[in-house]
Amino acid sequence: MNREPQLHQKSISRTILLNPGPGTISKRVKEAQIVEDICPRENEFGQVMLDICDGLLEIGKGVGTHNVALFGASGTGAMEATMVSAFGKNDHVLILTNGAYGIRMKSICEGYDINHSTLFKYGDVLDLELISSTLDEGKHTHLIVVHHETSTGMMNPLEEVTRICKEKGVKVVVDAMSSFGAYPMNLSELGIDYLFSSSNKCIHGLAGLSYVIFHKDRSVELKENKKAFYFDVYSQWENLQKKNQLRFTPPVQTCYAFIEAIRETLEEGVENRWKRYTANWQILFDGFKNLGFTPFLNDKDQSKILLALDIDETFDFNKFHDFLFENGITIYPGVIPEINTFRVAVIGDLYPEDMHYVVEKAGEYFN
Ligand SMILES: Cc1ncc(COP(=O)(O)O)c(C=O)c1O
Repeated sequence: MNREPQLHQKSISRTILLNPGPGTISKRVKEAQIVEDICPRENEFGQVMLDICDGLLEIGKGVGTHNVALFGASGTGAMEATMVSAFGKNDHVLILTNGAYGIRMKSICEGYDINHSTLFKYGDVLDLELISSTLDEGKHTHLIVVHHETSTGMMNPLEEVTRICKEKGVKVVVDAMSSFGAYPMNLSELGIDYLFSSSNKCIHGLAGLSYVIFHKDRSVELKENKKAFYFDVYSQWENLQKKNQLRFTPPVQTCYAFIEAIRETLEEGVENRWKRYTANWQILFDGFKNLGFTPFLNDKDQSKILLALDIDETFDFNKFHDFLFENGITIYPGVIPEINTFRVAVIGDLYPEDMHYVVEKAGEYFN
């Protein structure tokens, strides 16, 4: 057998991605995807996926109370999987729709005939009293909240919303796509019922894998309420536990990179990662304000993960984007209806010196 002793190293330069994931990843995570070819049905690979599940529970402090189902899919796959697995015919879901991702879940409910109502509109700050009085109507069994609304950069108050739901006996579903791994949370203490996220956001892995973390107490409902074949949360979890493999082909190399990214996250510690994110965000916030930009949100509602900045119709976003891109920096267009914005996020293996470089290059553009 002719076995090549080593791979040729390809030289790649580091870029600063300020789009909200997939972000800049470390060399260590990049290299972790280069492994010997392996069939994903081998036990060795099964162990990688089990380690991923354990690592995710350690990151979210859900060990002992929660389980994880992995899907070869983008984040929206885990979102859809949760929605088609968690809700029964007699359930009624309240979706907090103060941004694009809450609105996306409304569309999923419509597609699958899931009973639902919505509260709030794009950009609204959540009114906790209104949530409380709406749940007092007594018809809602579940509430869905997007923790960090990546469309506006707003951090919704997860702890307070969860507390209200627990008081009223309503189950909580959390889209933590762009916060899980960077924002310290304790799934066991909060008693979160369902949370979903993906490999390529705040854990700094590659795209291709998403996951649903569910409370063990929800297992019976998940078994009874499933409506989809691929996106069946309970079967996906059970198959890995019993057979040491996923039901369908997983993204093998993404999994190797993801377990490395999980180790990296645990080594840094979620609290430290949060400090790094907020420090990075503050440099961008101050820097862009000094350049004359106005943030879309009030300071108190800012996630400290993403910043949406207002621009007027005379501002040529594409030209600004292209200038920064040539300098190794990627910024992201806005999605807020009827308001022109662009976005910068600090999701990724990024450091204060990167942020200072961004501010310097942005300043150069205007000079
Ligand atoms: C809060 C939130 N939910 C869901 C998604 C959808 O994830 P994906 O684009 O990986 O399908 C995103 C993507 O940015 C997001 O930020």
